Amino acid sequence: MQSFEIRKKYLEYFKSQGHAVILGSSLIPQNDSSTLFTSSGMQPLVPFLLGEKHLLGKRLTDSQKSFRSEDIEEVGDSRHTTFFEMLGNWSLGDYFKKEQLAWISSFVFDELKFDPSRIYVTVFEGEEKIGVLRDKESASIWEGIFKGKGIKADHIFYYPAEKNWWSRSGSPEKMPVGEIGGPDSEIFYDLGADLKKHENSPFSSQSCHINCDCGRYIEIGNSVFIEYKRTSSGFEKLDQRNVDFGGGLERLTMVSEGLDNIFETDLFVNILKTIENLSLQKYNDFRKAFEVIADHLKAATFIVAEGVTPSNLGQGYVVRRLIRRAIRFGRLLGIKKQDWARLIAANVASDYENVYPEVSKKLDFIQSELSKEEEKFNLTLEKGLKEFEKIAVSDISGKDAFNLYSTYGFPIEMTEELAKELSLKVDIEGFNKELSLHQDLSRTASAGMFKGGLADSSLETTKLHTAAHLMLAGLRKVLGDSVCQKGSNITSERLRFDFSHNEKMTAEQIKAVEDFVNDAISADLPVEMQEMSFEEAKKNDAVGVFEYGEMVKVYIIPGISKEICGGPHAKRTGLLGKFKIQKEESSSAGVRRIKAILK
Ligand code: SER
Repeated sequence: MQSFEIRKKYLEYFKSQGHAVILGSSLIPQNDSSTLFTSSGMQPLVPFLLGEKHLLGKRLTDSQKSFRSEDIEEVGDSRHTTFFEMLGNWSLGDYFKKEQLAWISSFVFDELKFDPSRIYVTVFEGEEKIGVLRDKESASIWEGIFKGKGIKADHIFYYPAEKNWWSRSGSPEKMPVGEIGGPDSEIFYDLGADLKKHENSPFSSQSCHINCDCGRYIEIGNSVFIEYKRTSSGFEKLDQRNVDFGGGLERLTMVSEGLDNIFETDLFVNILKTIENLSLQKYNDFRKAFEVIADHLKAATFIVAEGVTPSNLGQGYVVRRLIRRAIRFGRLLGIKKQDWARLIAANVASDYENVYPEVSKKLDFIQSELSKEEEKFNLTLEKGLKEFEKIAVSDISGKDAFNLYSTYGFPIEMTEELAKELSLKVDIEGFNKELSLHQDLSRTASAGMFKGGLADSSLETTKLHTAAHLMLAGLRKVLGDSVCQKGSNITSERLRFDFSHNEKMTAEQIKAVEDFVNDAISADLPVEMQEMSFEEAKKNDAVGVFEYGEMVKVYIIPGISKEICGGPHAKRTGLLGKFKIQKEESSSAGVRRIKAILK
């Protein structure tokens, strides 16, 4: 079965189990500042997993475009991509483990007709520290399911939280307060020992197991039992028990087609053909380069289709990185033609015409953005590589890496990758210092956090960013401490700010917040930055949306605000001018949106 049929079958199957088929969301998260991109199907559904009523009921299913920048370097192993489609089904406080595991296994065995003897599953082994016990219930449900298929219980494996716990931020200790998650049960398909994936992998010296990274066992789906919420003292149960299932369409198609490589499925073959024609090389001889180009340009096409263009900031920076990395690998393959990335975008548009027609509708725009970026990078790529060769006689200094970035447009990650090929290191700290010296604080970490939701780092934008901190402090003062930020988007003209609050603000409340901000501006307070561990920041009562790094920056406006934030900010509040709230409106359930300006 090809991808189209699998997608359809999955949605129909869960529809027949009482699920409403919903439309997948944008790749750019709305009202969720935890990640730059939608990286799994559950992300747009978080409010409903938390108890908000969904208009279409408690059972939902969809196919969600997803993007994981953290997998950029994994691409090339025939089973990882940055862009993928996640088939998902959810129980919002409705069914739980028994139904989920029965349905998903029946989908895999009876609908997709996967050979049961090749299916293995994992379940959560339990973790005393957080008071969540071994998931014997899931194991025993699986045992029953397997028994019916003539499979022994030795296809069920327990793993610790590192592998069998899911939240947007990973294992329990990485979850920020308020984040939801729970134990999960993954389904793996055994591609078979005869493929010698293990023997031929970098992991051959260790013994192979279900979660081994060699690629013999491929994860094809994950049922997460989201029933916990992180609190400041540990974990507490949510009011409802949820199921969050996600399965990668690319991998399911691969297994269904009897392949061991997702790039050989219908989701990639046309793109690979184009790259073969362009490079006069064969995919089988240069798999990694082909996979990087195919994946990165497909991802860039989908992201640009949402209106994000290459830049040095946030999502735009990720697109820039994807395109430039693809162009560099194209050069390695010997592609001589100029302006070729647009051909891949055309492939993507036609491959997905029936599912995501928006790509083909926006194709002209996407192609012109790809062309511009390709041309820009081509102007400096050759010279930059020569420059790199010159300096790559020893580890790369921060200054040199910054020069490659600012003069030749090499994303720092590219310099790191080139250095790694020669077993050299790059002084990233030094690079970051140079970057901030040059006041370009806009680069986004590859993990992809919103750094304050800024559209650029102009002076006007920076001032509005500082105003947003003052305003959040004002909102908490006027409406109470339960107010927290839900997202922001700041341009040089205005700030848009989403925050949790259940009702419309009164005119008096709006005025009180404006006064609070304008008083802080009149006081001309300094805006200070301190670096500290996330723990320390929390101890200091710093507010802030999810941060995953070890060390965080905290911006402090004495007596007014302490906020975890990537910056940049105005040096003093006195520089801001007069603050005015132009609009206060509902954004989504339980979330309000303010638009404000500085005059
Ligand atoms: N959210 C889970 C995952 O991404 C299952 O959908 O694996």
